[in-house]
Amino acid sequence: MQKSILVTGGAGYIGSHAVLALKDSGWNPIVIDNLVTGFRGAVPADIPFVEGDIADHGLISATVEKYNIIAAMHFAGSVVVPESVSDPLKYYYNNTAKTRSLLESMIKNNVGHFIFSSTAATYGIPKTIPVHEDMPKNPINPYGTSKLMTEYMLSDVAAAHNFNYCALRYFNVAGADPKGRTGQSTSGATHLIKVAVEAALGKRDSISIFGTDYDTEDGTGVRDYIHVSDLAAAHVIALERLIESPKESYIFNCGYGHGFSVTQVLDAVDRVTNNKLTRNLEPRRAGDPDALISDNSKIKQQFGWTPQYDDLNKIVQHALAWEQRLIENPIT
Ligand code: UFG
Repeated sequence: MQKSILVTGGAGYIGSHAVLALKDSGWNPIVIDNLVTGFRGAVPADIPFVEGDIADHGLISATVEKYNIIAAMHFAGSVVVPESVSDPLKYYYNNTAKTRSLLESMIKNNVGHFIFSSTAATYGIPKTIPVHEDMPKNPINPYGTSKLMTEYMLSDVAAAHNFNYCALRYFNVAGADPKGRTGQSTSGATHLIKVAVEAALGKRDSISIFGTDYDTEDGTGVRDYIHVSDLAAAHVIALERLIESPKESYIFNCGYGHGFSVTQVLDAVDRVTNNKLTRNLEPRRAGDPDALISDNSKIKQQFGWTPQYDDLNKIVQHALAWEQRLIENPIT
């Protein structure tokens, strides 16, 4: 029977791109998603789709058996940083406790490879940049802590069982599938590029710049924006490597290793749209570091990961094209 890959949260933003990357590379993804924040329409019709919860042992066991699942990519979880501060138990439940249940299902069903969506939020406010994987992990919000706790679980599970994993610490994920098949569809998004393209298309009147007195070249916050399709490609490489080297596990940053300020991002949106966004200068947002940039040498050297879309204009163009498609043909 054909082998398959379980993709939890495959109807969400990053998960739906991973499903396409798997499919494009000849793998068989099987999506499980509870559709709380995901969209059924984000998953191609020919990909098996299971609506349900990652902590439902019976459902996971039946799915593993039905589709001959040999590995999992785990995207399902909650991702809103301020919400994690106001409702921490939701994050420790959805991200940490439910992942514990999923891992138990993996071990019981002999699924031996696991790729985990971790985050640069595990570092908190780094003392120096670029941020290397071995630098201290001091998350400053429950979101980051909930993901770091999962990294600890993975390390312990890999030591005890026939199981290996790759945790990818994402920096600022943006953009959309270059072929326009999926994108970031969540309404009420707070991420800079998503908000900026919404404003560019008239869904918002203006854009706020949170803080102009950071210790950066132009005073606005600097981030390492990575195209979601390059990130998805890293997951496929991780999968293949985990299968090839079943005794090895990996923790890697995922970013381009350089950053752009808020002003530079908004300038790019203005350039791409040939228009001018209305910018409001606002105070800093709580908990935002001045600059967050990855050291990506480990993933490049060890996985041979080579980004294809390290180009801010392209990231903006693809995000904009998806936003336009959402206006013309809303996703459900
Ligand atoms: N920003 C604005 N205006 C906006 C939105 C954002 O000026 O309307 C600024 C922020 O202050 C920050 C930068 O744009 O300087 C990027 O902000 P985002 O909200 O897009 O992203 P964050 O860097 O805050 O968050 C990202 C990930 C989180 C992760 C966090 C820390 O999206 O999942 O990095 O690693 F937790």
